[in-house]
Amino acid sequence: MKLENTAPAKINLALHVIGRRADGYHLLESLVAFTAFGDRLSVRPSDRDHFEVTGPFRDGLEGGANLVLKARDILRLHFGAQAKSPVAITLEKNLPVAAGIGGGSSDAAAVLKLLTRLWEIQVPPKELAQIGLMLGADVPMCLYGRPLIARGIGEMLEPFPALPRLPILLVNAGLPLATPKVFSALIKREHAPLPALPSKSDPAELLEWMRLTRNDLEPAALSLVPEIGSVLGLLRAEGALIARMSGSGATCFGIFEHQEAAERTRQAIAQKHPYWFVCATETSASTGELVHV
Ligand code: C5P
Repeated sequence: MKLENTAPAKINLALHVIGRRADGYHLLESLVAFTAFGDRLSVRPSDRDHFEVTGPFRDGLEGGANLVLKARDILRLHFGAQAKSPVAITLEKNLPVAAGIGGGSSDAAAVLKLLTRLWEIQVPPKELAQIGLMLGADVPMCLYGRPLIARGIGEMLEPFPALPRLPILLVNAGLPLATPKVFSALIKREHAPLPALPSKSDPAELLEWMRLTRNDLEPAALSLVPEIGSVLGLLRAEGALIARMSGSGATCFGIFEHQEAAERTRQAIAQKHPYWFVCATETSASTGELVHV
């Protein structure tokens, strides 16, 4: 039996840094969306443990430090005999790494879900989120995988019921950026929280709301990787309704009115910068059903 799923990109449509905990982690408020495009994960029973990475961003990811293997191993620690049988895991790495779009966290979340199914482990979502949090602050939100508001260090989640489907273009100039470096480069750590959230699922209302919000990590990331400014400038020049960096960067996104406009811009940017990651996709919309976190 082979089980597979997509590990979508995580996009911070808005990310406010509102303080810092005593242990150094930052307190955030973020509107988070997930895209149709992502990495692909598959798991199947095997006679020995095996891990294979394919795809355009596979380089350097086969090592034991990979979050995919950490996710497998943490399930074994937690569930013992139930999680013993050997598994072959494949990761098709389509998302750039160290890029602010949650690739590693999303992969870990996908593996936690796939392996608990394969090993037939019954685990309540809240308990799986607690296990995921040990792998990284963004793993619980990736386990949830639907539009949400994240608070705390990113682990306190609340469903966001009013996200429309948004045509979105992701652009990364190929420069990795380590999250801790960006947080350390922050000059200010106490910003205003998110404004009152939009109540209906309407693209115009959401964009209006987004214009009142920011990514507070953007100035710090820009100071480390000035090319982020060129990427944002290019997205704006090409007609993005809004252009912003996601997470700790360096991936930036542009939101467009129509999928065709996002695709046209993808072609224009890819032609100018053939070695950049440029991907036209869409955010998945809120479904209306309130699935509790
Ligand atoms: O939890 P994760 O390993 O993804 O975080 C990577 C690093 O990013 C942390 O070690 C910390 O330096 C920083 N971070 C932070 N505040 C957060 C999330 C991450 O300072 N809310």
